[in-house]
Amino acid sequence: MARVGNSIIKGLEVSEIIKLLNKAYADEWLAYYQYFIESKVVKGIMKDAAITELDQHAADELRHATMIADRILQLGGTPLLNPKEWMKKTNCGYEEPKNFDVVAILEDAIKGEQCAIKVYSNIVDLTRDKDIVTYDIVSQILADEVEHEEDLQALHDDITEFVSDLKKSLKK
Ligand SMILES: [Fe+2]
Ligand SMILES: [Fe+2]
Repeated sequence: MARVGNSIIKGLEVSEIIKLLNKAYADEWLAYYQYFIESKVVKGIMKDAAITELDQHAADELRHATMIADRILQLGGTPLLNPKEWMKKTNCGYEEPKNFDVVAILEDAIKGEQCAIKVYSNIVDLTRDKDIVTYDIVSQILADEVEHEEDLQALHDDITEFVSDLKKSLKK
């Protein structure tokens, strides 16, 4: 544990920060697995573009899990040791893919990102001016989650537009 490092935290209990970070840590692993499995099962039109995006997001969520685990350890905490804890501690849950169609998969993924944005925005607000190191880490993650939402939404809109144009041209 970084003793002097922790002494610069003002107006927040370190145990409270660790608790919040462990919940986010559970979210990141579940998000990682959700993207991993979605990339394997996704079907339908333009699925290759979706696979590229889903694989990139999986790698990002795993990188976020690493960043959070490292910060928890710095603070003197222990990252969740058992995957069973992930479902108990998660904020955003796990959206099991039931419909493998590319549009449905992207919609599930967008929901997950929107939840992640709310979670990190809340941690950013709580740590601002109080725990600058955690603040910096969660701000970086928040920026990635905003980008994720935008990338997925743009791909979703491209695919739905393409499909509707195709239907129109078939009717002619
Ligand atoms: Fe993430
Ligand atoms: Fe994300």
